[in-house]
Amino acid sequence: MSWIREGELSIIERFCANIIKAGPMPKHVAFIMDGNRRYAQKCHVERQQGHSQGFDKLAQTLRWCLNLGIREVTVYAFSIENFKRSKEEVDGLMDLARQKFSRLLEEQENLKKHGVCIRVLGDLPLLPVDIQELIAQAVLFNKLCFLNVCFAYTSRHEISNAVREMAWGVEQGLLEPRSELMAGCGSAPPPSFNLQP
Ligand code: IPE
Ligand code: MG
Repeated sequence: MSWIREGELSIIERFCANIIKAGPMPKHVAFIMDGNRRYAQKCHVERQQGHSQGFDKLAQTLRWCLNLGIREVTVYAFSIENFKRSKEEVDGLMDLARQKFSRLLEEQENLKKHGVCIRVLGDLPLLPVDIQELIAQAVLFNKLCFLNVCFAYTSRHEISNAVREMAWGVEQGLLEPRSELMAGCGSAPPPSFNLQP
């Protein structure tokens, strides 16, 4: 299935969209993928089928967002914690990612036409090399609307990486260790960076 589900909205979808549009609209909405396995269990289907249908629901949701004029959507798709699942499940999820990033590549022209910017955020070197290559080709730079896919993320990892990169920037002379903002804090001590994970 396509990343942004094709076809017309149903009457009920249009009705709901019009009600939502009457109120204030968020500029940025984030979704955390969850419940795929519970869904599979409830529907008596294979776990992988649950993950695949989770993606289909995401595609439907992205179409709603596009229709509502929400400019930025962030999808928390796969956390670093998810690598602790069984090899069979992680392999299945990586296969799904292969399939979906390849599809994203096929849809590039259409996405470009709609001005969609695609960003994949996370610790990419943790992913299989062929998926990293697919991602490198699938990212798109545009200005109209943004789709951020967080793939291999956790907040702790992101924060420690950001601090490590800032420390590197200071070491290289690219960043001032004491910014104007911090200088305005009067007696605030200079930042100290701990490079250990
Ligand atoms: C979300 O659904 C999918 C991923 C994290 C990849 P889960 O796999 O967490 O499904 P539940 O929450 O266990 O039902
Ligand atoms: Mg879960």
